[in-house]
Amino acid sequence: MKNTLLANGHRIVYHGPRDTPKGIPLVLLHGFCEDSTLWAPVLPRLRGIPVIRIDLPGFGGSAPPLAPEMAVYADVVCAVLNELGIARCVLAGHSMGGYVALEFAAQHPERLAGLGLVHAHPFADTPERRENRRRGIQMVHARKKHLYVAQLFPGLFAPAFAQAHPKTVDALIRNGRRQPVAGIVAALKSMMNRADHTATLGTLPCPALFLLGQQDAIVPPAQALGAAALPRVADVHLLPDVGHMGMFEAPDRTAEILSGFWRFCSAK
Ligand code: MLT
Repeated sequence: MKNTLLANGHRIVYHGPRDTPKGIPLVLLHGFCEDSTLWAPVLPRLRGIPVIRIDLPGFGGSAPPLAPEMAVYADVVCAVLNELGIARCVLAGHSMGGYVALEFAAQHPERLAGLGLVHAHPFADTPERRENRRRGIQMVHARKKHLYVAQLFPGLFAPAFAQAHPKTVDALIRNGRRQPVAGIVAALKSMMNRADHTATLGTLPCPALFLLGQQDAIVPPAQALGAAALPRVADVHLLPDVGHMGMFEAPDRTAEILSGFWRFCSAK
């Protein structure tokens, strides 16, 4: 069910129950230039789990953030939990959604029963990555949003998958192009300036999930696997033949891993 709320006067859209769910919910955050529809391929396989999907500020139906800071995106997660009267959840984020989930974990560790990083890692941007994002901002401001988005998505998939599934890649490009310039620019600025969260993982009071793709060009597995050694309890999955988009490239396995992690965390 699609719901809306106002967080600091800004419209936020989320999908899920209207009232407090029974048990610990699984809250899913999408990545950059995407929205809650990202999770569609895994949803049928998560039946029986109270799932909440949030459109991050500036994407889907949600208004752009008050400021381009990860803390503002994390506040929105908090606003949705408060609205639904949820004390604790299992929070899982894909890529940029993982960065938001880490920021939330730093601020509200007591509200997490589990933290899921789906193709995400805790490290801050390298100077090279920041420069790429700066160039992205310039492009989008120069009315080249369509070109920017068209270049972005093919590289997120393992090459063989992208070649065999052009319609999947095209659908994500079309959806990415619908996202407003303000949302794209705010996300790029927030990712550029985000903090390193290795210490957050080191002191995490709940289990952490790492779902990684062996062919991920954005979150190289060697780097992310190092981070998997930080939490006290980690559930680590490295998927072969998968890039940055496990929910499309391996939906059954991705759903199975998410539901297994949710079951483990909510039984504790
Ligand atoms: C994402 O998919 O959210 C982004 O590619 C993450 C990033 O650029 O670091």
